[in-house]
Amino acid sequence: MNSPKILLAITGGISAYKSAVLARLLMKQGCVVRVMMTDGACQFITPLTLQALTGHEVHTALLDEHAEKGMGHIELAKWADVVVMAPCSANTIAKLANGLADNLVTTVALATTAPILIAPAMNQAMFAHGIVQDNLSKLQRFGYTILAPDSGEQACGDVGAGRLPEPENLCERILAFLSRTNSPQILHHKKVIITAGATAEPIDPVRFLSNHSTGKMGFALARACLNAGADVTIVAGKGVNLPTPTGATRITVGTADEMLAVCTSVMMDDADTIFIATAAVADYKVAHVAPHKIKKTSNQDGLTLELVKNPDILATMSQTFPSALMVGFAAETTDTDNYAKGKLIAKNLDMIAVNDVSDKTIGFGSDDNAMTVFFADKYAKDKQVLAKASKDTIAIELVGHMAKLLQS
Ligand code: C5P
Repeated sequence: MNSPKILLAITGGISAYKSAVLARLLMKQGCVVRVMMTDGACQFITPLTLQALTGHEVHTALLDEHAEKGMGHIELAKWADVVVMAPCSANTIAKLANGLADNLVTTVALATTAPILIAPAMNQAMFAHGIVQDNLSKLQRFGYTILAPDSGEQACGDVGAGRLPEPENLCERILAFLSRTNSPQILHHKKVIITAGATAEPIDPVRFLSNHSTGKMGFALARACLNAGADVTIVAGKGVNLPTPTGATRITVGTADEMLAVCTSVMMDDADTIFIATAAVADYKVAHVAPHKIKKTSNQDGLTLELVKNPDILATMSQTFPSALMVGFAAETTDTDNYAKGKLIAKNLDMIAVNDVSDKTIGFGSDDNAMTVFFADKYAKDKQVLAKASKDTIAIELVGHMAKLLQS
């Protein structure tokens, strides 16, 4: 969506100051932001602040001649692509759940056909109260999306759930929501399991064998699958330092053996499941992990470690779950296409994407990628060359190919 129009509703709460930062962040991401505020919100932060930040008049009153001449409440309701209520107080949640329309925010909520996102923020005891929880459940039944609050220390000194998440986090969740609602749901009702990042094979209690994989491609694929409507589980190496995409389940693992065990336990053997192996799995593990830290010795210049082969997770999964769609990746430095085609057959895959990691601009840790994709013979589909682009763009293209294979 070009320049999504976000109607930000601020209600009374100490965290209202965070909404000013949220408005700025959303604008930085290309959104157009208009703000409406309840009387309570105006006690905590001034409309002038939000007006100066957004460059638009801030709407506060339902029955205001001046405002109605500019953009009245019905126009405002129609203008929005999405309404975000952050922070949303217990009072406003209760009014919304009961269909009250006694101020601008609650009236617009009834008048709009745009999706409404609610970020509840209040004292932890209030948030835990059955009435508030009931009201939130009712709003969810009516199609509202709840952006769950954070847990932690609150302004009142209490500790618990009810804090408004940090603006960066809210911004990311709002953008993820927009991407999802605007993407074709080509993986709706599909379950996707993605391995990502590097495995780590212990040598002794303080050292391990690993590699440079950052997990970026796997996480980009997770976002693309989520946006396409899939239910996504990421099985990530413990060194992956990337935020979990909103809506995905993340399971952290260390060794290849652990990765295989987790994948096997979450996988389903049906035609609605996709297994995507982006992880850089250590081919070998240490045969005998030392129980204590291996010490340097003065009489030895070298140290020999005996290595044994790790399981091939992808090959094992494709054998154990023959009905699922199997997608592999290959990072090569020479003869890329031939190696990839060999792996497609050897691991019994439906599709494999290969990239040339000798090109540093598309290798480990970079934000871009360029790939060639090969398909199993049964699809009678020619190879596809995906030109250099961001990993997110490549991921969307790959997901498009996966969806087509599922349909064929
Ligand atoms: O054989 P190679 O490591 O090049 O194969 C790459 C593909 O196989 C990737 O999709 C990778 O995630 C997967 N793989 C695996 N388990 C291994 C080795 C590779 O799942 N032990």
